[in-house]
Amino acid sequence: MPIYHQLGRIPRKRHVAFRQPDGSLCPEELVGNKGFSGPSSLLYHLRLPTAVKSVRPFRDLSWDAESDRTLRHRHFRTTPLETGPSAILDRVPLLFNADVALEMVRPDKEDDFFYRNGQGDEIVFVTEGAGALESSFGAVAFRSGDYLVIPRGVLHRYRLTTRPLRFLVIESRGDVRMPKRYRNDHGQLLEGAPYSERDLRRPEELQAHDEVGDFRVLVKTGNRLTEVVMAHHPFDVVGWDGYYYPWAFSIHDFEPRVGRTHLPPPVHQTFEGDGFVVCSFCPRPYDFDKDAVPAPYSHSNIMSDEVLYYANAEFMSRKGIDYGSITLHPDGLPHGPQPGRTEESIGATWTRELAVMLDTFRPLRASRQALALEDPAYALSWIGAPKA
Ligand SMILES: [Fe+2]
Repeated sequence: MPIYHQLGRIPRKRHVAFRQPDGSLCPEELVGNKGFSGPSSLLYHLRLPTAVKSVRPFRDLSWDAESDRTLRHRHFRTTPLETGPSAILDRVPLLFNADVALEMVRPDKEDDFFYRNGQGDEIVFVTEGAGALESSFGAVAFRSGDYLVIPRGVLHRYRLTTRPLRFLVIESRGDVRMPKRYRNDHGQLLEGAPYSERDLRRPEELQAHDEVGDFRVLVKTGNRLTEVVMAHHPFDVVGWDGYYYPWAFSIHDFEPRVGRTHLPPPVHQTFEGDGFVVCSFCPRPYDFDKDAVPAPYSHSNIMSDEVLYYANAEFMSRKGIDYGSITLHPDGLPHGPQPGRTEESIGATWTRELAVMLDTFRPLRASRQALALEDPAYALSWIGAPKA
């Protein structure tokens, strides 16, 4: 996790008796990944976090992949996608492999349960709307343009304040990290990194709920949900400290890099995971050499599937895309600007593009639901002009 953080009341030392005003002990809980070797936090509860009243299978989450594996460039228009109202239960899978999945949901109703993803870290890109991510660690307010990074095991729920909302969810088998090359040997973000610790928004407003009753928690493991009923409100933490917690980072706080001539996509990298990277393409001045070609050159990024989510309707090298479009340029085919876009880019001074890129190192498959959103003409959209 990014930086040490502390909220609420904690004892002077770890693993010592820590009492509530009535003299009872505050149960201590370690939440972290990779057993006791990864990043972790220590939480102090009002009641035992293990107080389970009942468990039952809730829902199978297996996804249907398309059967047609014909290699081609793909374009999916997600704007018309209607989903159910739950930020958790109504996520629609779009593209996925064994390392990472891309899902979309348009939450419109607050859930009456709490959620814990036990099998993956999540990056939730808030493409529209605002609200708060509530968790055992406190609340993180969010708004359009935020990436919410939710490490696995963090119990949470969403509060929705500004509608409509639209989330693009990246679910990762491995842990989500800030790129290692942005950090020094001590973990601090380097001066040359495109964001700093000041840009990371950590939980605030820790509220310890002192309530008993039946509280439903849905836990995702093994591509299925289990319903766990707790005997008390699960957000009963009076204090915690450590490196493991949910946090937010706004795409608008990413400091874009500009060169005299074109810089490659890795300069836009924002996160890394096992088998993928996430990059942010932000408004910025174009390359400043008088002969510079700001649009990218065609490239064959063998060993990588490249996905772009267009958070507005402008992108320097693409035409025919809308807000909410997703393009997939797969391993095995070169891709690049569409006819006319290279010439148009020469002499331009500024781009307003805003896009999230997911590059995966293993091939992605489209879901059954994604097929209904596909623009079949896209694969042949480089035909039609003799010159670039
Ligand atoms: Fe590319």
